[in-house]
Amino acid sequence: MAINFNNRWVVITGASSGIGKALAECFAREGAHLILGSLPGEKHILENIRDNLQKQHAIQIVTIYQDFADPDGAVKFYDQCKKLQKQIYCLVNNAGIMAYGYFHELSHKQQKTLININLMAYFSLMRLFIEDMIQQEEGVIINISSVSAFQPTPHHAVYGAVKAFVQSLSEAVDQECRGTGISVHTINPSYTDTPLLKKNNFPNKIWWYRISGLAKPEDIARKAIKAVKQGKRLYVPGVMNALIHLFLPRLLPRKLSNAIAHIVLRQER
Ligand SMILES: NC(=O)c1ccc[n+]([C@@H]2O[C@H](COP(=O)([O-])OP(=O)(O)OC[C@H]3O[C@@H](n4cnc5c(N)ncnc54)[C@H](OP(=O)(O)O)[C@@H]3O)[C@@H](O)[C@H]2O)c1
Repeated sequence: MAINFNNRWVVITGASSGIGKALAECFAREGAHLILGSLPGEKHILENIRDNLQKQHAIQIVTIYQDFADPDGAVKFYDQCKKLQKQIYCLVNNAGIMAYGYFHELSHKQQKTLININLMAYFSLMRLFIEDMIQQEEGVIINISSVSAFQPTPHHAVYGAVKAFVQSLSEAVDQECRGTGISVHTINPSYTDTPLLKKNNFPNKIWWYRISGLAKPEDIARKAIKAVKQGKRLYVPGVMNALIHLFLPRLLPRKLSNAIAHIVLRQER
């Protein structure tokens, strides 16, 4: 089934900055109506984004403020979406945080919060919305994953492990949904210049940037929507990134690729 977002409702979590904000702009250009989510404290930012998009595009936009660190946050977010009585065509799971540092040094609380936001909210929203999509016999789920899904990531071990979970879940569910009108896609960017990399102890520079550089969120979003419309289920923006992250870990002995990851993901001084 051809994927077309024009005049369809799209939900985007974490739309107040970075990749989520850029995705909101791209979906607006596609003519999609938007339900945009962010933290309650960022209300003024999301309202600003909403007002700007509505000035430029003839679309409807609703904003929802919900903290996914709350274990019930995803269910509360879904309930607020349902109250709007819109047929949701596409869910974009995007809200996320980073925690940089050794597993034994980062606090239990901080890493559990990351799991609630980057994993539990993705899982719950996907599970809740997919039931409606099955009934509608159409739907698109886009999970913003990462190249970290393909390789253990020393220095941000839990972040990478969570992305691996999201990756495995997305690919398995996509297979289960073949023939139902529903597709599940992952977008797997490498390091991208967003506030995520400026918070939670993430270093100004890590060694890997010498190879990967830093992508722009606007480029990631534009390429992501194009890839989804082409029906790609897994998309790594950038040919070099695709080669390095999809093929290299399969060719190298695991012990060696893990040791290399430990070295290249360290802080560059
Ligand atoms: N940047 C990268 O290098 C990179 C690479 C690969 C994948 N990704 C993935 O891309 C996604 C978006 O990240 P980004 O880089 O665009 O980061 P970002 O600019 O920091 O955006 C993250 C978004 O998530 C929201 N968020 C954070 N904590 C939340 C919470 N507790 N409840 C609800 N929403 C919350 C933020 O809202 P507030 O603005 O209100 O805090 C913001 O809208 C993430 O899943 C990330 O893992 C990023």
